[in-house]
Amino acid sequence: MSPVPVLTIDGPSGSGKGTVSAEVARRLGWHMLDSGALYRLTALAALRHQVSLDDVEGLAEIARTLEVEFLAQAQGPARIMLEGQPVSDELRTESCGNAASKVAAIPAVREALLQRQRDFQQAPGLVADGRDMGTVVFPQAAVKVFLTASAEERAQRRFKQLKEKGMDVNLPALLQEIAERDQRDSNRSVAPLKPAEDALVLDTTGMGIDEVVESVLQACKSFI
Ligand code: C5P
Repeated sequence: MSPVPVLTIDGPSGSGKGTVSAEVARRLGWHMLDSGALYRLTALAALRHQVSLDDVEGLAEIARTLEVEFLAQAQGPARIMLEGQPVSDELRTESCGNAASKVAAIPAVREALLQRQRDFQQAPGLVADGRDMGTVVFPQAAVKVFLTASAEERAQRRFKQLKEKGMDVNLPALLQEIAERDQRDSNRSVAPLKPAEDALVLDTTGMGIDEVVESVLQACKSFI
């Protein structure tokens, strides 16, 4: 029996991965893994249980025992629950993203979350969104895409997204946070952010979401 197909979509924050992955998964009728949410959840659970971001063993234990649910909705992204409470909005804040990027640099945390991510590979297929989906978690994926865009454009996109949610945001501060997060994600020793050798690299600067979705679906055509 051939394995359940996986499409990996990796890239830096603000590259449009989340939106593109969700739309591609919807169009293909496949499941979706938002792996960044698992790192964000680990950071949030640590905060709630008063485990310091320097406590490597404590954080690994939090990741191993994370009690989460992704509740599929009729429309839009899954509702994310941590220990029975809805946390989707809290997870999307920049402070949670930053804490997640610190937690994600710890090898024991990545190890603890590995199998949990692989368990998302369910029929009829999986779109996996993250930083190391094509390089570490699903190296055998049928199709691998790496999305990028200039840091300025990514900051602008994030600014618009957060504004639309009614959040109070500052563009220069966002740009700086994005640059710091890129730096940390790309230079960590374990699973650094980089395209898999066999990934299709798409620079989405100046491209609309629909155009990116079409390019990704096109890349899938010859394999799926
Ligand atoms: O994609 P998102 O912004 O939700 O990810 C939050 C953080 O989690 C990233 O900055 C990155 O450090 C980490 N992450 C990771 N590997 C993944 C997904 C996310 O290291 N596969």
